[in-house]
Amino acid sequence: MTNIKIALELGAKKLKNSSPTPMLDAEILLCLVLNKNRLDLINIENKTLTNDQHLKFMSSIIRRSNFEPIAYITKQKEFWSKNIYINKNTLIPRPETEVLVDMTLTFLKNKKRPTFLDLGAGTGCISIALASEIKHIKGVAIDNCNKTLKICKQNLIHNKLSDRVIVKKRDILNNKFTQKFDLLISNPPYLREREFINICKSIKYFEPKNTLVADKYDGLKYLHFIIKNYRNNLKKNGILALEIGNYQFKKVGFMLKNYRFRLLKSFNLINNDIRCIIATKI
Ligand SMILES: C[S@@+](CC[C@H](N)C(=O)[O-])C[C@H]1O[C@@H](n2cnc3c(N)ncnc32)[C@H](O)[C@@H]1O
Repeated sequence: MTNIKIALELGAKKLKNSSPTPMLDAEILLCLVLNKNRLDLINIENKTLTNDQHLKFMSSIIRRSNFEPIAYITKQKEFWSKNIYINKNTLIPRPETEVLVDMTLTFLKNKKRPTFLDLGAGTGCISIALASEIKHIKGVAIDNCNKTLKICKQNLIHNKLSDRVIVKKRDILNNKFTQKFDLLISNPPYLREREFINICKSIKYFEPKNTLVADKYDGLKYLHFIIKNYRNNLKKNGILALEIGNYQFKKVGFMLKNYRFRLLKSFNLINNDIRCIIATKI
């Protein structure tokens, strides 16, 4: 039997070299085992763990000490204040994607019954954020991975949005849509192969490569394809919303111009690089 406070301190110590937030991680992992929230821990820190709880806690600490992201251990991630189920087949939703959703909302405000196409939906986090924010919006979420599509459907059902977002297995790079939408939104794979090789361990060893890597060259394969080949799927005054990678803005800007889009808004992240863009057809 182990005292909770001591177990937490030991757990955090074991995470010192693998996490920038060892105590926070240890607390989250213990909460998972005890089915409590972090505030509860203060009141029970002098209580003891059963052997089974201690074993479960330590095994999750070992997973984290091997650089596994917390979200894969807890099997969930908060996105747009919603609990999104994830698993090893899905990308962990990121805060920069919340920025993309936020930017998009301003442009959809005045549309009566907007429609959207979410290209590379993953967990469905973007579709869920949009549909929970805009009452009359309807959308189609596509991905090419069966296991991901299963999680996407599960998340939509859990959030009671499956009647407004249709999930389809489609290849982004083979556009068969004839329908026009008010919004085309995508956080596609945009890394170069080499960037993935040099990326931090928690991404390289755990997040699915196919969700992140676009190509060997400049990471622009998907972004280029979408800008070039989905133009006809956008209604007049429709919005194209894209998340892009570091240092890709200049080239993406040229592509937009080339395929007759006008940039409406862009967002710089902390390092001053543009990572989210909104454009419309000229
Ligand atoms: C960067 S992840 C984005 C996931 C989610 N939208 C998000 O923002 O967290 C890219 C997604 O595109 C999907 N994907 C990759 N290649 C694809 C393709 N050729 N056709 C359809 N989906 C694809 C992956 O399975 C993955 O779910």
